[in-house]
Amino acid sequence: MKKINLLLVLLAWAILMVSGQALAGKSSVEMGKDLFNDPTLGGSTNDKSCNSCHPGGEGLEKAGDNKKLVKVINQCVTGPLEGNKIDGRTAEMRSLKMYIQSLGAE
Ligand code: HEC
Repeated sequence: MKKINLLLVLLAWAILMVSGQALAGKSSVEMGKDLFNDPTLGGSTNDKSCNSCHPGGEGLEKAGDNKKLVKVINQCVTGPLEGNKIDGRTAEMRSLKMYIQSLGAE
């Protein structure tokens, strides 16, 4: 019985690790920049991308310090892009954050 429990715990752990990695994926500044220019971000069907209003990330140099960056980004995703909220743990959102944070580092 104990062995089975241990096995179940190990199995649950393995599943969590794999699904966690799928969610996190590989995030990068480059991917964030691509998404920033992508008019289909968040499933958006209008022709706007982040870059339409923030060309080259202009004006967002200080936004990287914002503790609510995910929320602010999602406001622009669901607002002007008319897309769906992006989960903060996904590679997409992590990459967008990394790109915006990289703007302030210049
Ligand atoms: C229709 C124009 C428009 C689009 C498209 C747009 N934004 Fe915005 N965004 C604004 C406006 C207006 C504000 C609020 C004023 C400001 O801070 O520049 C803002 C604010 C922000 C801020 C906060 C700035 C700060 O200094 O706190 C971030 C970050 C941001 N947008 C990111 C994005 C991202 C990422 C996208 C793409 C998903 C996007 N925006 C798409 C208009 C837009």
